[in-house]
Order: sequence, then structure tokens, then C-alpha cells
Amino acid sequence: NSKRRPFVAGNWKMNGSNELVDSFSLKLASNPAVDVVICPPAVYLSKFSHAEFDIGAQNASEFASGAHTGEISLGMISEAGCKYVILGHSERREGHAESNEIVARKVKAAIAAGLTPIICVGEPLEVRESGNVFAFVKAQLDAVANECGADYIKNSVIAYEPIWAIGTGKTASPEQAQEVHAFIRKELAALDTQAAASVRLLYGGSVNAANAKELFAKPDIDGGLIGGASLKIEDFTTICQAAS
Ligand code: G3P
Repeated sequence: NSKRRPFVAGNWKMNGSNELVDSFSLKLASNPAVDVVICPPAVYLSKFSHAEFDIGAQNASEFASGAHTGEISLGMISEAGCKYVILGHSERREGHAESNEIVARKVKAAIAAGLTPIICVGEPLEVRESGNVFAFVKAQLDAVANECGADYIKNSVIAYEPIWAIGTGKTASPEQAQEVHAFIRKELAALDTQAAASVRLLYGGSVNAANAKELFAKPDIDGGLIGGASLKIEDFTTICQAAS
């Protein structure tokens, strides 16, 4: 993976405070060898000042404006300074009924709005246990390709987050993660070989300061999407270093 620039994003989920925003703004050092992104709750986006890292939103509406109470548009997060938006996180798919098709429409809208989507895919435990991981992830990717065409690959970052590894402390082994990453890259290569070779594929699911290096050493793992460990500056910094 030497030709791809490492990428580490912190997904704060519904955590954080003015205090945490301020301490990250002041203390999180940039890493010249890694693209570092923090994705806080939307109300904090515009509070990150002169940050040495990029910011991303955790979700956005597929619609541009209008009667969608409680939603936030891609244009708004862009005005708030976002370069990235996480789309299709399993907590959105499962807890907020976002189908593969809805996620695909959001990806299309995000790219049209000039943002880079961090597209999340990954299987629940029962799918892993029944041996259908590849088919499950393929369906998630195919929905995006059907909506957006192969062009989305060069404008996206893709995160593989097995649901059973999220917030459980039970990370996928580097081999398990690499196997799915290689599969994803192969699927993308069938649509656009060049874009597939350069797209960053992140692993997410209980990545921490101790296990990051081993995961990121795998040839198709270009970085991580970090939940719990992204709330602690020291841990997150160690994880960013592990990617460089
Ligand atoms: O998006 C990141 C994520 O779902 C992983 O969370 O807490 O297991 O690192 P965590």
C-alpha cells in the first residue's frame, strides 16, 4: 500500500463537548504522512478552528433543502468546513433504516456537492457465521455502483466495518480484515482498475493504540475509521502514527 497515502478518521459518534473540541483543536498534531480527519457531531463542526487536520460529518441528507425537520444538508456541512462525510455507517443503516439504495443516493449527492464520502460497509455477526460476508459486502457496493457508476470510486474512501467488531473490543484479526479488503479492491477493480488501485480502504471496529499497527501493515488496509479510541488524543495520535 505504499502508493496510497494513509488515512485515519475519528468518528466521535454522539460523543464530545466544547471542551473536547477545544482540546483537539489545540493539541492534535498534524501528521505530514497521513490524512487525518475528525468527524464530530454536526453542531461542533464549525467550532474547529485553524485545525491542522480535516473535518467530516457523520451523516447528511440526500436532499438539498426543504421540509426535512432535523436533517442537515451536504451544502450546510460543506459551509461548516467539511471535506468529508461518513455515509452508510451501520448505526445509520440499522438504527435509522438506511437501505443500500438510500446510502447510494447520498453518495451520489455528496460527490455532486464536492465532498468526499467515507462509505461504510460491513456485515453483522450472523452473516459472518453463515459464511456470506463477500455476497453481503458486494450487495452494499453494487448498490452504490448502480446509482453512481464507476466514477464514485475515485471520489470516495471506503471503510470496512464488520458490525460485530464495532464497540465490542473484539477486533477483526488483521487476516480477516485483509481478506475482505482484498475482496473489496478486486470488486472495485472490475469497474475501474486504476481507481481501485488508488482508493483508500479503511478498517473500522475496535481499532486501538495497541492493535492499529498490525492491522495497517496489511497490504490492502490503508488506515482506519476509529470510534471509541478517537476520543482520546494520545490514543488517536498513536493510531495516526501507526498508519504512517
Ligand atoms: O465508525 C467507527 C466505528 O464504528 C468503530 O467504532 O468504537 O469500535 O472503534 P469503535
